[in-house]
This record gives sequence, C-alpha cells and structure tokens, in this order.
Amino acid sequence: MEIEPLAALRRRESVKWRAYPGDVLPLFVAEMDYPVAEPIREAIAARVAASDLGYAFAPGRMGAAFAGFAERHWGWAVDPAAVRTTTDVSVAIVETLRRAIRPGDGVVITPPIYPPFFDLVPEAGGRVVEVPLLDDGTAWDLDVEGISAALVNGARAVLIANPHNPLGMLSRRLGELAEVAARHGAVVVSDEIHAPLVHAGETFTPFLSVSDAARAVGVTVTSASKAFNIAGTKCALMVAGSAATLALLDGMWDEVTFRTSLLGLHANLAAFECGDAWLADAVAEIEASSARLVGLLAEHLPGVGYRPPAASYLAWLDFRGLPEWGDDPAGLALTRGVALNPGPTFGTQGRGFARLNLACSADVLEEAVRRLAAAAPKLSP
Ligand SMILES: Cc1ncc(COP(=O)(O)O)c(C=O)c1O
Repeated sequence: MEIEPLAALRRRESVKWRAYPGDVLPLFVAEMDYPVAEPIREAIAARVAASDLGYAFAPGRMGAAFAGFAERHWGWAVDPAAVRTTTDVSVAIVETLRRAIRPGDGVVITPPIYPPFFDLVPEAGGRVVEVPLLDDGTAWDLDVEGISAALVNGARAVLIANPHNPLGMLSRRLGELAEVAARHGAVVVSDEIHAPLVHAGETFTPFLSVSDAARAVGVTVTSASKAFNIAGTKCALMVAGSAATLALLDGMWDEVTFRTSLLGLHANLAAFECGDAWLADAVAEIEASSARLVGLLAEHLPGVGYRPPAASYLAWLDFRGLPEWGDDPAGLALTRGVALNPGPTFGTQGRGFARLNLACSADVLEEAVRRLAAAAPKLSP
C-alpha cells in the first residue's frame, strides 16, 4: 500500500492533522494514513457528480451488504432485515442504551477502555459501572464473574468493545457473558467497529453469532468507518439478534435513522460490497507495522512493554517498568514531538500506559520511536 509522504498527509483537514502543530507526529486518534479505498472514492465521487447530497434513504440495501460481508469474513449469518443505520457508532451506542435502560441504571464497561465510553453511558442516562479486564500477565479477558456481580447489584446493560480498544483483544468469554446477561435480563451492546481488521491467524467472533442467549440479549453496533478510515462520512449500523432487540431498535425515534449521512451510507456500502481487497492490504500493512514496532522498541526503548494486538491498529504501550515516564507517558512524549493517547483517559488501569496508532508509514513509526527514546534522557546514566 502506497502511503503518502508526511507533507501530503499534513494537508489533510481531519483532527489527526489539525490538532497539533506541524512538527508533531500525530499517532493518537484512530485514523489511518492509508489512501482511501478506490471503491469508496468512486462511490462518494459518484454522489457528488450527481448532485446527490440530500438525505439518505436508509438503511436501503445496507442489510444485505453487511450480511454479505459478515458471511464472507466471519461466517456470521446476519438477517438483513435486522439491520438499522444511524449517524455513527457513538450515536448507535447512546441510542441503544437509552432504549435498554432507565435513567440512573448502571451500565458495565470494562477498562482500560476507549475513553468516550465513560461519556456515552451518562449521555444515554446511565451510570458507569467499571468492571476492569483481567490480566493474567500474558493475555487480557473479560471479568465475567465481576460483570455478573455488577448485574446482581442492579446494572442493566453491558457495553463491550469486541475487538477491544485499546488492547486489540478478542475475548474468549463471550458465551459466558451472554449467559450471565440473559440470566439477569441485561442487554449487551457489542461495539464491533474494529472487527474487519482482525489479524492473520486470529479469529474474530461476532457476539451475536455466539449462542441463542447472545442473540436474545445482544445488539451489535458497527461501521466500516474505522477499518476503512471513513469516520468523517458518518454512518453506522445497529444489528439486532432477536425480535426483542429488534423491537428495541425500532422503538427509537425516527430521527435516529434519519440522521444517517447519505455519503456515509454509500461509503459503507462500497466498503462492505467492494472493499475486501483493500482491507486485506490494510491488515497486512498493520501487521507489518506492529512487527516493526516490536523491533524498534527492542532497539530503542527496551523497557517499554508491548503485546501486539490480535486486531486493529492500536498499540497499548506499557511504560510502568520505566517510572521516570510517570502516570501519563503521553505528556512527556508530546514534549518531544509525538502525540499519543494518554493511558489514564482509558481508566485508572491506564496509568503508566499510552496508546500509539500503527496505521502509519515505516518512516513515521521509526521517527516516532526515535523521538520517544530521546524523550527519556534519564533512562541512560
Ligand atoms: C471502540 C470504538 N467505538 C467507537 C468509535 C467511534 O466511532 P464513531 O466515529 O462511528 O462514533 C471508536 C473510534 O475509534 C472506537 O474505537
């Protein structure tokens, strides 16, 4: 995949390239430096050429397009009639939770976790109940017993990221989670926005494919936006697994669907219907970048821990072995010209961590690690 040189990337208007001064390497927000997939470019250009920038007719053929993608990639049989669309995945989470809970109800999240989850729960009227992931020293997973205890104590919903952001983790405990949620009558919202980016040799399990219990309690929210780098086009999907959860989606205000962007809808259709070749290249690029990071850290920052993700392009860097980096290593990194996501914004479990975006060129990654190594003058005597 041909990645544009930095000077060209810096002409982009997205937050990644506008948030920091021009000498900073932006490896924070989850945007990719890759060129947009040709089918998506054509789909958007076709709508513009036709002066076709009105309201979307949604979901249109999105159900069938996503069902085809889910079947090809994960062997998951999605009922096309159970797919709805909205503005973005954040809105999908908020509106699903809003229907699933009453104001003030507890909603479980599993830190360290994508920071907006801490805001989306109260935006939906809920109260955050943290059940941190368990770490056995080599792998993370959901604390299903902890989630069960939270549900016993009254929490009414569980919001997971599957695959997990920032860890790129694929949980092995989704079946148990579904059982526990079904037992307590809780809804599980499974955010699967990173799922198209599962790495070679890894298996992604869609939550709704796990069991009848999962289909009874689960709503999947997703989009092509993360995997194809089209977040600015604004379209996301909500998928129900049962009559009860479909009724929940159909109980939303009509405006939730009406706010789907027409350009977003067509960009997502192009991605799901014609994006497989581009996606395979992108995943290979990410895997190479992750392997490169392993080597660069060993050479320049050997004290930093890194477990390569099983999916997506986020690297969760553990600086705790180097106390001079403090609770928020991203702060020191920024003073040396590298923008990372601060670990503590992912929850208290993120103290001493920072998140790095791997979807960049080899040159940018190498320069970033060199700058980080220079940012730690106290490391060497
Ligand atoms: C797990 C997860 N969910 C949701 C989002 C945001 O999605 P959207 O822009 O569609 O709201 C992100 C963005 O990085 C994410 O990582």
